[in-house]
Amino acid sequence: MDLEIDSARLLSEIEALALISEAQLPGVTRIVFTPADMRARTWLIDHCRAAGLAVRQDAVGNIFARWQGSDPAAPAVGTGSHLDAIPNAGKYDGVVGVLGGLEAIRALQRAGFHPRNSVELLLFTSEEPTRFGIGCLGSRLLSGSLSADVARKLTDRSGESLDDVRRKAGLSGELEEVQLPTGYYKAFLELHIEQGPVLERERVPLGIVTKIAAPASARVSIDGEGGHAGTVLMADRRDALCAASELILAIENAARTTSSIDTVATVGMCEVFPGAVNSIPSQVSLSVDVRDTDLARRDRVICAVETAAKQISERRCVSIRVELLNADAPAECAPDVMDALAASCRKHGQKFLPMISRAYHDSLFMARIVPAAMLFIPCRNGYSHRPDEYASIEDIARGALVVAETLASLSA
Ligand code: GLV
Ligand code: MN
Ligand code: MN
Repeated sequence: MDLEIDSARLLSEIEALALISEAQLPGVTRIVFTPADMRARTWLIDHCRAAGLAVRQDAVGNIFARWQGSDPAAPAVGTGSHLDAIPNAGKYDGVVGVLGGLEAIRALQRAGFHPRNSVELLLFTSEEPTRFGIGCLGSRLLSGSLSADVARKLTDRSGESLDDVRRKAGLSGELEEVQLPTGYYKAFLELHIEQGPVLERERVPLGIVTKIAAPASARVSIDGEGGHAGTVLMADRRDALCAASELILAIENAARTTSSIDTVATVGMCEVFPGAVNSIPSQVSLSVDVRDTDLARRDRVICAVETAAKQISERRCVSIRVELLNADAPAECAPDVMDALAASCRKHGQKFLPMISRAYHDSLFMARIVPAAMLFIPCRNGYSHRPDEYASIEDIARGALVVAETLASLSA
């Protein structure tokens, strides 16, 4: 089979998609169900149809583009990722897996390959947690990891529920219908930029992910007492932001002092109310993101954060509520899919490195219902979630080629 990736076309599609954004280039912002996200979805559907794929969408907006195999009743082989992007992100996170997967399918078609199992490209809804507080909404629902009832009631910052927002976006059906039937997929693979520095540093062009680290997130609400910045004396204050500052440092310390470099914790959002120069902050809300390759150690950090919150609350006479939004287990990738990826790398003379994914991905949840694995490509300086995120088209095309070869071997 003569497999060839059309790099020029793939690059022009990545550039075209980057223009569908709410940020100025080089930044990309595509929050789920905003006009930019909806336009990106329409763009993708048009491109999938142009490739002869049969497209369907489920009630939460996961998109499935199917290349029907000669045995339509056999479980499909899936590949894909997400197109939503956090505020001021780059062009490649998620996009490489969706457009690389589409180009892999087109390359197989051009090569005259005929799959036995159907091959399906997937776009997952809201891999990023920006709007509804938890990430991987689409894959959580597909895998039955999030109940429709809980999902329905998730709200964004303006108080709109996921159920209302998705219906306004034109999605019909019930969230209960999103969960995939057992045995729907034979295998799933996701191409993604590494989002870290290892491949670049080691000068190896491909990484086969063996394990995905365990993510957790929490929302912290602090209530103190507001007042006049000039007249309330220091001894009389219950400043919510000062309490938040102590807690942020306690969170950093909890992650830094485990025995492992694999523990990380981040406070990425801090909202201060009322937010005036001459007003003592009365309310603060923080986001907390904690991850580790080891589940027990990750959970000990969460406990340490809860203990610190209690102590700070008592000492500063403020109320602190820690609401755990998600605390997921790590995922082990499937040996069969990793082996198929490794065989494809070897077939094309490509070196690869087995590696851990410290970022989470929809594969974390797909791995619960289907043998799944991921293929990483390098990104410059390991940068991600920032506008200067960059992966070369040579690396992207190499990844797409290995995806194509692996889809062929799994669907033949
Ligand atoms: C995914 O975007 C992550 O935060 O790991
Ligand atoms: Mn991301
Ligand atoms: Mn991603």
